[in-house]
Amino acid sequence: MSAISIEKSEKLEGKIRVQGSKNEVLPILCATVINGNISIIHNCPRISDVYNTIKILNSIGCKTEWIDDNSLMVNSRNLNDYRVTCNCVRMMRSSIIFAGALVSRCKQAVCSYPGGCVIGERPIDMHIAAFRKMGIKVINNGKGIECIRYKEKNCKIRLRFPSVGATENIILASIIGNQTVYIYNYAKEPEIISLCSFLIKMGGIIDIRKDYIKISGVKKNCLKNVEYCIDSDRIVAATYMFVVAGCKGDVVLEAADIDKLRASADILKSAGVLINSDSNKGIAFEKKYIRIKMKEKLSLKGKVTTGPFPYFPTDMQSPLMALMAGNNTEFLCKETMFENRFKMANELIKMGADIIIKDNKAYIKGKQLHGCRVNASDLRAGAGLVIAGLGAEGRTVIQHADYIYRGYEDIIRDINSIGGNIHIV
Ligand code: UD1
Repeated sequence: MSAISIEKSEKLEGKIRVQGSKNEVLPILCATVINGNISIIHNCPRISDVYNTIKILNSIGCKTEWIDDNSLMVNSRNLNDYRVTCNCVRMMRSSIIFAGALVSRCKQAVCSYPGGCVIGERPIDMHIAAFRKMGIKVINNGKGIECIRYKEKNCKIRLRFPSVGATENIILASIIGNQTVYIYNYAKEPEIISLCSFLIKMGGIIDIRKDYIKISGVKKNCLKNVEYCIDSDRIVAATYMFVVAGCKGDVVLEAADIDKLRASADILKSAGVLINSDSNKGIAFEKKYIRIKMKEKLSLKGKVTTGPFPYFPTDMQSPLMALMAGNNTEFLCKETMFENRFKMANELIKMGADIIIKDNKAYIKGKQLHGCRVNASDLRAGAGLVIAGLGAEGRTVIQHADYIYRGYEDIIRDINSIGGNIHIV
């Protein structure tokens, strides 16, 4: 496990090009098994979750090849297994999405229970209930799930909560076959729209309406090769906005789309951060940018509740808590999705933070933090500790920093390129 060392950093300046999106590329990589053909994915981020997904694809007979720095080719013609049980499955929550994709392609799937960040219970009951409604028998064998499609059944599924993973799994499981599936109360995250665009390019028939998504199954031989470009990562872009807001400076985030991170930008604006952007819907995402300018120490009295898109993302809750803890703030953060997200508060408290946790609320009173040795307990907590370390007096060492590489291609390269003082130990 690697560690990162950080010194207080101020007045950041320059540009960062935001990497491709993790939460967009992972389900799309799972979806490449469906066409039995070639998929070329551009702007694929070089993060450990992508490398682990590639290992899973290879374990079931798919060939993969990097055709340039960020373009990955997946050939699923010789797929020879419907079981995803290798160790990598337990390292990522998103591996459960292979179940839907393999049911489409092979009519059956075996998938070990997924892992991912230790941020809470993370059950898959909605995935299983939806599969059963679709005519897929699901056996919970204690180690994972075994799925067998015994019937192609038209159905309407209403999710009790707009789960990202459940929406993705249902869409993928419905692509091939002679059935029509409607999903109500589906997740509206941008990653869902991208997954549908990818599948439509592949030959799938999907109709996205305000209230439902309708997937009309097609024959396997209707699916074709597909080439697709991954959008930039809205969580990485928002993290870097928080970095600049905390350290002060003037930084342009290239390929960053303000429309996908308004909830994060609005909090910063209310704390005095200047944010300009080109959000012209007509332009390609590479040409979009966000400029963040901050002269003073950040000051804010306020509150936020995490929620499904377009509300404040749970993935930004740890970076937000870190930013608030080290500035002139009185802030209340309510977490509605993952109960263990507040674990990071203990690490911030080691750095001198004043945070009280009660049920699913964190009461934060900002003050000057001081550097010390802290532990990253998950991906976003790691990113939060980077923000805290950049604003803290003295040296901060983040242990278990490998978690950060699950989602950030090279946070050290990016932050150093704008004048930050951060190194691998
Ligand atoms: C995805 C994202 C993750 C993000 C989360 C919420 C990926 C790879 N991961 O995770 O970064 O934090 O969305 O935006 O895209 N739930 C159930 N039963 C289920 C499924 C979910 O109770 O069957 C609950 C979860 O415990 C959680 C909530 O629903 O409280 C949202 O989970 P979900 O949207 O499914 O998150 P993920 O897809 O796991």
